[in-house]
Amino acid sequence: MDWGMENRLAQLIQPDGRCFFLPIDHGYFQGPTSCLEEPGETIKPLLSYADALFVTRGVLRNAVDASNTKPVILRVSGGTSMVGEDLANEGITTSIEEIIRLNASAVGMSVFIGTKHEKETLMNLSKLVNECENYGIPVMAVTAVGRELEKRDARYLALCCRITAELGARVVKTYWCEDFEKVTRGCPVPVVMAGGPKCETELEVMEFVYDGLQKGAIGINLGRNVWQNPHPVPMIKALKAVVHKNAKPKEAYELFNELKNKGKK
Ligand code: 5RP
Repeated sequence: MDWGMENRLAQLIQPDGRCFFLPIDHGYFQGPTSCLEEPGETIKPLLSYADALFVTRGVLRNAVDASNTKPVILRVSGGTSMVGEDLANEGITTSIEEIIRLNASAVGMSVFIGTKHEKETLMNLSKLVNECENYGIPVMAVTAVGRELEKRDARYLALCCRITAELGARVVKTYWCEDFEKVTRGCPVPVVMAGGPKCETELEVMEFVYDGLQKGAIGINLGRNVWQNPHPVPMIKALKAVVHKNAKPKEAYELFNELKNKGKK
């Protein structure tokens, strides 16, 4: 692996082999998502606990302090919206020059496998990999399900992760599911878990994160279950303990409650 690629991956994946990415890219198709209306304010108390920020260029330029930030994974796909016809109809929104100008440590884009835009999004991934590999920039593929959250099962997600790795993604972001080891076993590159819509309880989040890590994920890219929680700082600290200190779900939940009861927002 070239030095630049290795160095960028090392900025994202910590020496323990794990990572905790904080995504705030939701606005690119959802608009001002709840608790992310002012992304700069949302991340202020959280950023120091994350290993990287997953963000679009617009929010990066306007809401993130360039002199004091974490490695950036730039969201480079889009072109659709929640109120539009088809969330799967995404294109690449950012040039390679812009990716380099913004000093991104990696880029992320969604693929929509099993939809009528499957080929287009997979060819977009391939083209992005071709360009980014020239400059040592890792591509993170996002196995998106759009509105069809019920698609999140091991058979479908394993298929998606494997295909994106075969096309050259250096990291794959997917959802946790039952039998998650089937997803990681069939994927030759590191797998990171997204959170999805906010869970009912904090313990539930800690349990799926812990389970996924035991079954081969290297980390998480968790947004709504962190910053939509009424106590986002205790939440991110507790999840960080699961990711980087192998805390068990109950231990992490106790830490969350302890911090919450101390009055930490
Ligand atoms: C949204 C994304 C997010 O990065 C991803 O879904 C993770 O965020 P959350 O934990 O809120 O699901 O790709 O487009």
